[in-house]
Order: sequence, then structure tokens, then C-alpha cells
Amino acid sequence: MRVSFTVNGRPQEADDVWEGESLLYVLRERLGLPGSKNACEQGECGSCTVRLDGVPVCSCLVAAGQAQDRRVDTVEGLAGEGGELSPIQQAFVDAGAVQCGFCTPGLLVAADELLEHNPSPSDGDIREALSGNLCRCTGYEKILDAVRLAAARTGQAV
Ligand code: FES
Ligand code: FES
Repeated sequence: MRVSFTVNGRPQEADDVWEGESLLYVLRERLGLPGSKNACEQGECGSCTVRLDGVPVCSCLVAAGQAQDRRVDTVEGLAGEGGELSPIQQAFVDAGAVQCGFCTPGLLVAADELLEHNPSPSDGDIREALSGNLCRCTGYEKILDAVRLAAARTGQAV
């Protein structure tokens, strides 16, 4: 089947998609968007998180056909047209919240969604929003610092 959808604001099509093919596979292998990572392919780690019509989802668990005529936003869409980092991306860099980086795309997408809807999150809000995203490297504290920093920089008290 053919899947037509909008990815990071641009119309995209993928042909010969089989029914069980995941959105993650289509993004990475057919559309050349490898930012979303495949760590478990079981909905456990959050490294594949994208937004589907604005809502964070594990793209490894979403059939590509479910994205038909819908909007998908991936980590590649966070940076500006000129490649400048978004506030949450810059905050992850500045807070030292990235080690191996495998979890980072999913965390960025989830954190970006949080700050869009809750610009001054409490620590509890941050922990809840990122609870589906596993990181085996950082111990999470610097990730929390990064989200706090991004919130502060965008003009909201934490
Ligand atoms: S790869 Fe999708 S949740 Fe782990
Ligand atoms: S930085 Fe390595 S898994 Fe999070």
C-alpha cells in the first residue's frame, strides 16, 4: 500500500508498505530519517518517540498505515531551517544531558511536547512526561536539568 502523510511539515509518500510495517521503519528506512532510534522495537524504551498529530507515540508500535493523512513530527524537525538548535536541543547540550545519545532523540521529542503544553513544569511534571523514555547512561539528573534549563530560557519560571 501507499502511505501519504506529512512529516516535519512536508508531504511524504511511501510505496509498497506492507500492513505490518512500523512507522519507525518507514521513517528510518524509506524516508531517510534515522533520528528516531530503534532500541527495543517493543514499546519499552521510548527511543523511537515521534509525535503523531502532536501526541508523543512509540513509532515502533504504530503501523505506518495508521499515519495516513496525519502529521508526524520527528526529532529532525526540531532544529531550524538553518540547522540552529531548538531551545530544548541546546539545553541538552549545555546541561551535559547526552552521553551515548541513543535515548536523546526520543527524550527531545517528549520534552519538546511537554514544554509546548506546560512551559513551566514542576519536577514531577518532567518526570511523568519522560517516564516512557529510558536512558542507561546519564542517571537522568542532567536530563532533568536540561528540561529545567530550557523552561527557564524560554522565559518561564520553573
Ligand atoms: S524502539 Fe520503540 S519503544 Fe523502544
Ligand atoms: S545517553 Fe546513553 S542511553 Fe541515554
